[in-house]
Amino acid sequence: NKLPKNVVVTGAAGQICYSLLFRLAKGDVFGTRQPLRLHLLDLPQAQQAVRGVVMELEDCAFPLLTNVVITDDPKIAFKDVDAGFLVGSRPRSKGMERRDLLSANADIFRIQGRALSEAAKRDAKILVVGNPANTNAMILGDNAPDFPTENITSMIRLDHNRALTQLARRAGVAVGDIEKFVVWGNHSPTMFADWSHALVDGRPLSELIGDETWYRNTLIPEVARRGTAIIEARGSSSAASAANAAIDHMRDWVHGSKGDWVSMGLRSDGAYGIPEGLVFGMPAICKSGQYERVVDLQFGQFAKQMLERTITELSEEREAVRGS
Ligand code: NAI
Repeated sequence: NKLPKNVVVTGAAGQICYSLLFRLAKGDVFGTRQPLRLHLLDLPQAQQAVRGVVMELEDCAFPLLTNVVITDDPKIAFKDVDAGFLVGSRPRSKGMERRDLLSANADIFRIQGRALSEAAKRDAKILVVGNPANTNAMILGDNAPDFPTENITSMIRLDHNRALTQLARRAGVAVGDIEKFVVWGNHSPTMFADWSHALVDGRPLSELIGDETWYRNTLIPEVARRGTAIIEARGSSSAASAANAAIDHMRDWVHGSKGDWVSMGLRSDGAYGIPEGLVFGMPAICKSGQYERVVDLQFGQFAKQMLERTITELSEEREAVRGS
């Protein structure tokens, strides 16, 4: 029998976790033979709601779920974890400036960075979902001196999945037929959904679709606006699809991406002119529990401009939290 893995999930009372926790406990990430202990972190005022979610987890009688810890203390939550889904963050309230939002979240991720550094296993895989996800992940790493920053990633997979469905539909192929597609940069409207390397059966996807105007003027803005469109239609933000993307991200990291590219927010090493230290959506190939960055890609003029735009935004976010 396998030893249980300890998995911290923050924002456990929130809507994403209402989907994520159940799929995790079912075995969608670590497999159906891997027992789990969940460490659920949320704010003091959300503890009762977390207990309600845990009652429902109990009522599912998941064979893999051996134990659940509920806490509002990051040090307890991060103790000996093998993996973490950092979903909880401070939402923007009425009248709140973007700068205030960045700084409120910077405080949260500084505290969690220190807890991660002190308490987690050194090979723990961490995914930051809570927005602004890239900058939160950067701050987490900056404040976790004894934890390897390459194990801290942010989520851009929802944008990747959103674009993939639209591209597949337009090309008249299955989602799984598209290879080497990637979303670069910030999880925000400046993200760059990049089809320039994408292939279907060895043939360029751009050639198959053959409509650069649609790509630039419809696909890219629609993917960027998708989150807003869902809020307008549903009355609340994407939750099940966000949980699904988090599961895809972590599952591929753990089990491999079968040679294909996945989009992950990774700490920049300076490649592609992305300032070192920014956490940036980029292509990676996952294998044997590790990811490898895709290197030496060439870009055309349009792609360079799009990359520059999202680099500028993330650099500004970094500046905004620096003195906060
Ligand atoms: P929600 O508001 O339903 O839940 C957030 C939960 O986090 C609440 O229970 C809250 O009490 C908790 N929380 C706040 N501060 C915390 C702290 N310091 N420690 C622990 N828990 C804390 O929000 P929802 O819909 O579940 O979304 C969560 C986050 O994920 C949001 O920031 C949202 O913007 C982000 N998101 C990111 C996506 C991405 O692609 N990266 C996609 C969709 C959402």
